[in-house]
Amino acid sequence: MNRPIGVFDSGVGGITVAKEIIRQLPNESIYFYGDIKNCPYGDKNSDEILKYTDDAIHFLIKKGVKLVVIACNTATAASLEILRKKYTIPIIGVIKSGAVTALQTTNIGKVLVLGTNFTAKSEAYSKEIHKINKDIIVHNKACKSFVPFVENKDYENEDAAYNIVNNELSLYKNIDVDTIILGCTHYPLLQKYIEKYFNNEKMVISSGKETAREVSSILTFLELHTTKLDKEYKFFVSQKSDKFIATAEKWLNLDIDVNVIDVEDFK
Ligand code: DGL
Repeated sequence: MNRPIGVFDSGVGGITVAKEIIRQLPNESIYFYGDIKNCPYGDKNSDEILKYTDDAIHFLIKKGVKLVVIACNTATAASLEILRKKYTIPIIGVIKSGAVTALQTTNIGKVLVLGTNFTAKSEAYSKEIHKINKDIIVHNKACKSFVPFVENKDYENEDAAYNIVNNELSLYKNIDVDTIILGCTHYPLLQKYIEKYFNNEKMVISSGKETAREVSSILTFLELHTTKLDKEYKFFVSQKSDKFIATAEKWLNLDIDVNVIDVEDFK
């Protein structure tokens, strides 16, 4: 089926997931929506996050997508189960994929999840991991400053990036885990700094690859794969942001045009 895959995040973080989808499914079209106006979601309550995610999915469906990836851990934690019941198209989150990746990575059964305030408090990763293996020890750490730092493109300033990682993680420097889950799709942009902070001794993982694999499996199972070669990538944001464009272009290695939209106009 030659309709696009919808990918949604509160901001630019979802681009890290879109990149994996493009890598694994290079002939699929993607419509990406970043709700920059309301970013960060991580400090909001579940009703607010649910509403923004619902509006985003509604918008993407109006644009004709065949499947939606909620490429945001916070939105996945707050809304995936509820919105799956509301819509008939497949909706995929990123937390189960991250949990599965962690379970395949850890050798000692001890993991640290870095995420937004909302994701950390929800303990969504612990729940997902414990559904599969109750013996895994899961620590959750909220890193409140990371999302605004990445949205602001400050990750390009190495000193500032090491500083912010050090500030957030200083109490965790000697934590007894072998695996660190980047439980926010913005955090892969800080991955090299986080790895270095832990002296490259921890396996630092994210959910993009496994999420893209899940998308591929669902497209295959439902016979929704594209049958054409004329893919298109479209980018929508709720507020103009040159930083979004710069980060997305660099991360995806593409020139992109961005459409500023108001989801209310699509209701
Ligand atoms: N990329 C989102 C996530 O994965 C960031 C959430 C936010 O806007 O705080 O959680």
